[in-house]
Amino acid sequence: MDSIRVHRDSISVVDQSLLPDRMVWLKLSSLGDFAKAIGSMKVRGAPLIGIVGAFGIALAAKRSKATSKGALLEELARAASLLLSTRPTGKNLSWALQRVLDSARSAKGLEEARRAAVRTARAILEEDELANRAIGKIGSRLVRNGESVLTHCNTGSLATGGYGTALGVIRAAWEGGKRVTVYATETRPLLQGSRLTCFELKRLGIPVKLIVDGAAGHVLSAGLVSKVFVGADRVLLSGHVINKVGTYPIAALAKENGVPFYVAAPTSTIDPETPVEKVSLEYRDASEVLTLQGRRIAPKGVAALNPAFDVTPPKFVSGIVTEKGVAYPPFRRSLKNLLEKPKRPVSA
Ligand code: MRU
Repeated sequence: MDSIRVHRDSISVVDQSLLPDRMVWLKLSSLGDFAKAIGSMKVRGAPLIGIVGAFGIALAAKRSKATSKGALLEELARAASLLLSTRPTGKNLSWALQRVLDSARSAKGLEEARRAAVRTARAILEEDELANRAIGKIGSRLVRNGESVLTHCNTGSLATGGYGTALGVIRAAWEGGKRVTVYATETRPLLQGSRLTCFELKRLGIPVKLIVDGAAGHVLSAGLVSKVFVGADRVLLSGHVINKVGTYPIAALAKENGVPFYVAAPTSTIDPETPVEKVSLEYRDASEVLTLQGRRIAPKGVAALNPAFDVTPPKFVSGIVTEKGVAYPPFRRSLKNLLEKPKRPVSA
């Protein structure tokens, strides 16, 4: 299933806020369209946010009335910081924006800078799907036939340039002939698990049982699942994993119950620089917690706290599956090795 379609002067993305009831494609052309779609989470999922952000500035470059390369670069830097402010926690967005900016900066002249920006955005999209397919192939080796696994949030085709990260691992195992059952958490407040993960798994024919977020501990302690696979929005070199809020308790309870906890993410999610104390965690509007699909579920006047992400310490992480291989603890060394490793095709 596609999450994005690229046109001459715009892109179309699935409005994920309307799924599973309606499949509506949103056309994005102006910078404002891009910022609004990302900020309102109509477009979501760290890798897809990166890809969409990349097209946001690439199309701004194409449209720009700048008459010199210097003026264009200044305009693009402003556009990039606007887009970055919409969802600052995921690494993929800053990584993709920087890559497009760098490509424009190293181009010779104004026109070539515009073309380089568009080429780079297209490359980021193509590479993401390839990386996810490689993650799937590598990660599926960790899945046994007949196994039940737990996942959180949505990490499928919808959240990426195609195929998915953690869901890509499950999908590759399934496509490789392994019977897998998935326990998917609802993922309050915006229900990415029930609305999107169940939607994707159902289309793929992969058996799924939806659980409320609070049931994850029971599912782990009752032995209903033997592995956890989640995605990530940012992975620090220390092995700290920043992912959808609710990941940390799942990881801690997986450890408590002896269940391996794996993270699947492309290397574009790895942040080799930021220390854990400096990570900026996104807090979203309280209304997302105080309502459920538009309906108020708490008394008027009640306050709510809405962190969109949490931080899982490396001691709870069994391995991090990337397109270049699996990193195992100690992560500082294994992740660094993976980052330095050249990209190469993955064998079956
Ligand atoms: O719905 P979001 O954008 O807030 O959720 C972020 C995510 O998609 C995940 O947490 C996910 O694991 C990383 S992306 C495959």
